[in-house]
Parts: sequence; C-alpha cells; structure tokens
Amino acid sequence: MKRSERRGDRKPNHIVSIKQFHNLRILNRLFALADKLQHMPPGQKPLSGKTLATIFFEPSTRTRLSFEIAMYKMGGNVLTTENAQASSSSVKGESLPDTIRTIANYADAIVLRHPEKDAAHTAAQISPVPIINAGDGAGEHPTQALLDLYTLKQRLGVIKNLKIAITGDLLYSRTAHSLMFLLSLYKNTEVFLVSPRQLRLPAKYKNNLRIHEVESLREVTTALDAMYITRIQKERFKSKQEYKRLNQTYQLNPKNLECLKKRGVILSPLPRNQEIPPEIDTDPRAAYFEQAQNGVYVRMALLHLLLKNG
Ligand code: NCD
Repeated sequence: MKRSERRGDRKPNHIVSIKQFHNLRILNRLFALADKLQHMPPGQKPLSGKTLATIFFEPSTRTRLSFEIAMYKMGGNVLTTENAQASSSSVKGESLPDTIRTIANYADAIVLRHPEKDAAHTAAQISPVPIINAGDGAGEHPTQALLDLYTLKQRLGVIKNLKIAITGDLLYSRTAHSLMFLLSLYKNTEVFLVSPRQLRLPAKYKNNLRIHEVESLREVTTALDAMYITRIQKERFKSKQEYKRLNQTYQLNPKNLECLKKRGVILSPLPRNQEIPPEIDTDPRAAYFEQAQNGVYVRMALLHLLLKNG
C-alpha cells in the first residue's frame, strides 16, 4: 500500500500562517516543550523512523539547517533540496503541487521555502503530509516569529507593556509580518515601525496594536524594551538603484541605541548586512545569535508536535 493511502483520511496539521498560534496558551505549551526538548536525555529518539524533507526554492542558512539538526537530534532522518529552484524538476516545468505530491511519498513532513506568497498555502491544500512554511516570498515566516518571541520571553521574562521598535524593510520582511501578529496577543504592546516610506508595513499586518510609524530611530523618544532589526531585502527589488539608496538608511550605532533600555534586547532574524555593525555583537543586549540557537529548540518542539504521534 502506498504511504499516502496508509495515511488514510486523516487531515495533516500544517503550519502555514502564524495566525494558527492565536493564543498564549498554545504558545506557552509550545515553549514549554521547546524547553523540555532542549534538555532531552541523550539517547532518546522520539522521532526515530520519521523523515523530514526540506525543500528550499530560496537561499537559507539558519532555517533549513536548524530544522535539519532539530530532526537529527530527535532521531529522525532528513531529505534535503537546498537549491530547488535550480536542481529540482521545477526547472523542467514541474508544478509545485506535483513536486509536493511526489515528495509526500518519501517524507512524513515537508518544510517549504518558496518565492511566491501563497506557495505554502497551495502546497498545504494538496499535501497528505504536514507542510511547514519556512518563508513564502514577502508573505509570512511563522516559525521564525515563534523563535523570535521565545527569545524575547527568555530575555525579558514576562512580556507586559512591551515597547518594541521594528526597523528596516517592513514591506518585504516576512519575519516582521509574522511577528506583528504574535505581538498583538500581548496587552498594551506599543510598536514603533521604523522604515523608509516606500518600505512601510502593509496595513493587513497592523492588527490591534498601538503603532507609531516613523522614518528614523531618532524619532523614537520612548525607552524601548526591544529592537527588531531587519535588512533591506535586495532580492525583492526591481531597481538596483533604489535598493542601494534605501540600503544606506539604517545602521545601529551607540547614539541610536540610546533609546533601548539597559536590559533591553536587540533581535534580528539575520542575515545582516550593514544595519548591525559587528561592534554591536559584544553589547550584552545583542541576542541575534541566541535566536539562531533557539531556532533549534522551537523547531524541535514543532516537529515533535506534528510527528510524534502521526
Ligand atoms: C529571514 C528570511 O529568510 O525571511 N531569514 C531567516 O529565515 N532567518 C530574513 C531575511 O532574509 O532577511
């Protein structure tokens, strides 16, 4: 019997949008599981016999590798296509649904990164195994937002009356889009959206938050608990000239970091270009490499939830 038939009529659980994580109970359960799996005794293999496929049509370092190590740490296997836009049958004109239908015969879940906004949704509609959205163009990146929040909670303890600035390319940054939704679940959150006019956050991601839109960190006079720094997304610009001009816009420095509290947090999904100079790395508030580490634990928890009893 074919694997997809064996799975019968059970509907797989997909992770397509951050909106699926719509209350603090769900989030706290996920984070408690991430804490527990981080300290899993050696030798335990909760996902032994399970296979994860990671299919990336756009470049990635952290997301793909952290999903893969998360799977290995729990005793599972990985099939990977790190450069699917050049090396999968999409080059021969195969449609995304056909690629997904095929891979579902070989894997128990599929992590998908794709340049098109609705790619994860399209894949989830036809896939008999769980689809995990690892970034769909300038749409969403739900698992990144989960690890961003996990890191924020680890650093700040309780999240209450949070004041956060999100800077950079808010038009194209899918991580910022997903993070905005999670922030809206916490009462009294105040968000400073710091971006050039052309790269403002689309209205649909604004949710029920107290928002101030400004063009420079100099305009933020409130003491901040956190800063979330995104890069200008070169690959999404049609004009190189326009990219170059806007890329000069933001760079952290001791002066514009003055608005961040002493025990505040500097977050970034990474990669960075010039917006976080390496000198900032030794600032005790810098937490971006911690985020990359936490990505492993949060993704272990997600895979465990999707695959342990599946
Ligand atoms: C981000 C992405 O791919 O959206 N990176 C990541 O997954 N950690 C951010 C970016 O590319 O700027």
